[in-house]
Amino acid sequence: MEDWHRPVLLAEVLALLAPRPGGRFVDATVGTGGHARALLEASGPDGWLLGIDRDPEALVLAAERLRPFAGRYELRRGNYADVMEALEFSQWDAVLLDLGVSSLQLNRPERGFSFQADGPLDMRMDPNQRLTAADLVNTAGEEDLVRWFRDYGQEPRARSIARAVVRARPLASTWQLAHLVCRVYGRTGGRRHPATRVFQALRIVVNDELGALERGLHAAWRLLRPGGRLAVITFHSLEARLVKDFGRDRVRSYECPGGVDVPELRRPRSTEGRWVTSKAIRPSATELRNNPRSRSAQLRVLEKL
Ligand SMILES: C[S@@+](CC[C@H](N)C(=O)[O-])C[C@H]1O[C@@H](n2cnc3c(N)ncnc32)[C@H](O)[C@@H]1O
Repeated sequence: MEDWHRPVLLAEVLALLAPRPGGRFVDATVGTGGHARALLEASGPDGWLLGIDRDPEALVLAAERLRPFAGRYELRRGNYADVMEALEFSQWDAVLLDLGVSSLQLNRPERGFSFQADGPLDMRMDPNQRLTAADLVNTAGEEDLVRWFRDYGQEPRARSIARAVVRARPLASTWQLAHLVCRVYGRTGGRRHPATRVFQALRIVVNDELGALERGLHAAWRLLRPGGRLAVITFHSLEARLVKDFGRDRVRSYECPGGVDVPELRRPRSTEGRWVTSKAIRPSATELRNNPRSRSAQLRVLEKL
C-alpha cells in the first residue's frame, strides 16, 4: 500500500532486539506498523505488542497491516510519553522509538508537513491538538521565531527569516512559507531545499517532540525488565543528543550531585545499563538507495542491567 511507511533499519532493529516467542514489546511510535509487524512475526506464536501513536490515520493503517496477528497486539492512541508513564506492568522485553514523521504524514499535503506540495500550515501529528504551525508562525514574537529556527532547525539565517515572516504574515500555506524562505536565501534549489530547517523547527515545536522524547526515554526505561532493551531511531542531532545523554547517565557508575558533573563530587552507584551499540548504526548503502528517507537515521540500543 502506497501510504505504508517503509520501516528504516528494520533488519538491524530485529537483530538487536532479538524478539523471542512470548516476548512483550512496546512500539511507541507504531506509525503504519512496519516494525511492529516484523516484531510480531519474529516473536510468534505468542509474542505480544503494544503499539502507540498520536496519529489516528496511522493507527487505522497499522490495524490493517497487523490484522494477521489479531489477539497478539493492542493499539493505543496518545502521546507515547503519557501512555508509557501510565503503564503499570514493568517487565517488557523491548521498547522501540522510531522518531520523526512517517511517509503517511509527509505524503499528505493536507497535513502540512511538507513543502513539496502546497497545503495548510498545520504539522500536527495529533489532529485533536489545537496548536498548529500557522498559529506559531502568525502569532509568535520575532524573538521566539529566531530561537526556534536557530535551536530546533540549526538555521543559520534564523534572524532574517523570522523578520521576513513577521513582515509577511499572515501566512496560511506551506508554499507561502517555503517561498518566503527561498526569497531570503535568494535561491529555490540546491542539495537541500532552503526551507528544510525551518519546517523541521516548526514541526518540533508544534508537536513538542523533544519534550516527549525526554519524558518518553525515562518512561520506557522504567518499563523494561532487567536484560530488556530500548532501541531508538533518531533523525537529527537534537534527538540524537538526548538519547546519547540519557544513555550516558544510565551507563555511568557514579551520580553527580545537583546534576553537574564535577569529578571531585561524584558519588559511586551501580550502573543501570549498557550500550548494545557502541556507535550509532546507520543504514546500509542498499537501504539508502532503496529508501532515501532513511539517510539521516541512526539507531542506538541500550540494555537495562
Ligand atoms: C517514523 S514514524 C514510525 C514508523 C513505524 N516505525 C513504521 O514502521 O511504520 C513515527 C511515528 O511516530 C509518531 N509519533 C511521533 N511522536 C509521537 C509521540 N510523542 N507520541 C506518539 N506518537 C508519536 C508519528 O505520528 C509517526 O506516526
